[in-house]
Amino acid sequence: MPRHATPRRYLMCSPAHFEVSYSINPWMDPRKPVDVSLAVAQWEDLRERYRSLGHTVEELTPRPDLPDMVFAANGATVIDGRVLGARFAHAERAPEAAAHLDWFREHGFPEGELCEPVHINEGEGDFAVTASYVLAGRGFRASPLSHGEAQEFFGRPVIGLDLVDPRYYHLDTALAVLDDAADEVAYYPGAFSPGSRAVLRRLFPDALIAERPDAAAFGLNAVSDGLHVLLPQAAVGLFEPLRQRGFEPIGMDLGELLKGGGSVKCCTQELRC
Ligand code: ARG
Repeated sequence: MPRHATPRRYLMCSPAHFEVSYSINPWMDPRKPVDVSLAVAQWEDLRERYRSLGHTVEELTPRPDLPDMVFAANGATVIDGRVLGARFAHAERAPEAAAHLDWFREHGFPEGELCEPVHINEGEGDFAVTASYVLAGRGFRASPLSHGEAQEFFGRPVIGLDLVDPRYYHLDTALAVLDDAADEVAYYPGAFSPGSRAVLRRLFPDALIAERPDAAAFGLNAVSDGLHVLLPQAAVGLFEPLRQRGFEPIGMDLGELLKGGGSVKCCTQELRC
């Protein structure tokens, strides 16, 4: 199948103040030291890779009191220029939501297109956008009620998916959108309840199914522009299946950020506008 990249606009936030000082997911161990300069170098590598592929990267100002702010995907969900803000499940990250909304206000997004949500959602951590649907995770972070809120705001069908394994606490740790013009995804079935697995099989019969070691290497925390798929380089089992589908996988090393429980996708919020 011929693939083509479309130019994207991404929002990222430097890990200049990244640390693991608390634990809100099983990957975070505050006893393990973090090398901030290495985290920054790995993150800059990702940012420059996007730019070299012709994408636009905007930056949020990192805050010393918000060490997880590098995971910019969690701060909002933007579709058709409409911005659904986040409401975080944990107090440690709560102020990130306002920082994101302020950024949108300062960057010309009209107030009428911004929504401060009532229900808990962590942006693209639990919302994934395909051509036909917004896929929405629940079980660990997003409230099931946020799914209805997103459906009403975006006017797109929202499909709720139940996450059952705490290591895959956000949808974007277990499912990646490979082609958002054609409903093509990759996912790790083990992260989902039996009913949600059946829903995924029904909606995406041709999905790329990831094996456990690649999921555990955060291989599904990937970003695709329709041709290039940026993913953790340790997810070695995904490269050949992606190539067979006509994608160009690009392995990235975000090892320091893995200590916070995130990788490529977590660091990247897509501004669909
Ligand atoms: N430490 C962060 C948290 O647990 C990591 C967030 C990762 N982001 C993501 N989109 N999965 O909230």
